[in-house]
Amino acid sequence: MHIAIINGPNLNLLGSREPEIYGNQSFEDYLDTLATDYPEVEFSYGQSNVEGEIVNLLQLFARECDAILINPAGYSHTSVAIADAIRAIGKPVIEVHISNVHSREPFRHTLLSGGAALGVVSGLGLDGYRLGVEHFLSHPEAQKEA
Ligand code: DQA
Repeated sequence: MHIAIINGPNLNLLGSREPEIYGNQSFEDYLDTLATDYPEVEFSYGQSNVEGEIVNLLQLFARECDAILINPAGYSHTSVAIADAIRAIGKPVIEVHISNVHSREPFRHTLLSGGAALGVVSGLGLDGYRLGVEHFLSHPEAQKEA
């Protein structure tokens, strides 16, 4: 299975950004561990701080991959374009949030993109990405239905 991971704005700073909320590990280090733990999965990874580039990544990876994990970060709460892209591409998408957005400020409780996704994992740290991978591996039928 080929799974793409897309991270949105400021997630390139994981490891140094507000470590009390997002932890001390960089995403590159985490991805190395994930790839080692799941040798049967081919991973592609993209990160952008720009909304339209995230839409482009969704369209690109939808052509190449079986399933997508996305953390649109701050755009999760505002982006009609990313939500529309998730609905448009016809591939299963799981949205991941490292923090529990529902226990934070009210503006983080709205997830426009999450409403377009198959499901949302929030508040379990970086482990949310691994849980998304587990879901795709144990529900291969989701790729056909999306
Ligand atoms: C986040 C939560 C968002 O509200 C925030 O803007 C982020 C990260 C998370 O992973 O917890 O940048 O998506």
